[in-house]
Amino acid sequence: MKKLLITIDGPAGAGKTTVSRALADRLGYRYIDTGALYRGVAYGAKTRGVPPGDDAALARMLAGLRLGLQRTEKGLRLTADGEDITERIRTPEISMLASAVSARPAVRAFLLQVQRELGREKAAVFEGRDMGTVVFPAADVKFFLSASEETRAQRRFAELQGQSPVSLEEVERDMRRRDEQDSTRALAPLRPAVDAIRIDSSAITIEQVVELMLGHVARAAG
Ligand code: DC
Repeated sequence: MKKLLITIDGPAGAGKTTVSRALADRLGYRYIDTGALYRGVAYGAKTRGVPPGDDAALARMLAGLRLGLQRTEKGLRLTADGEDITERIRTPEISMLASAVSARPAVRAFLLQVQRELGREKAAVFEGRDMGTVVFPAADVKFFLSASEETRAQRRFAELQGQSPVSLEEVERDMRRRDEQDSTRALAPLRPAVDAIRIDSSAITIEQVVELMLGHVARAAG
């Protein structure tokens, strides 16, 4: 079967990560979590005291930052300069900071190259916000996964249980702010590509979403 490049975009909490990972597993493809790269940059900025709005300082930092995504038996791991930061990037603070740095031109230009390099071999599922619109406009199959605000907040809240002491209200507020920032920024805002297949996961299970996607992928692979 033809090896494809598949993109999955959508807002926070729509189930993108679970779906992308499951789809990649079913197809024997690589799964690339591009949000983790933005989180890695945010983590780098935080630990080095770089202000998220300072493009020049961010560019200087990026010139010396080595981000790596490794597939291990413990899942996909993110490293920054060789240090494993997988767990440290999953906090509400890093979520907001990732959203802030992701609006900066220096960061988007840097990660555009990183992501295109990762996509050279195809046979991959790329998850993010601008995969189908900016990074891989010629992707073989593009999905835009969404869900109602309420469903997304509840999913995110369940995910954070045992990790961060936050209330459902805080999760909802942060998610709304992040969606607003991600959708209204000037560069590569979150929006569906014109040729994206739109799926709403509010009323169906993650397994059903994956089955639906597999059907589209099989048709595209011929
Ligand atoms: O998917 P995530 O929640 O891990 O992403 C964290 C932030 O990174 C998100 O708020 C916006 C940004 N991001 C982006 O701008 N473009 C992408 N392709 C992926 C993430």
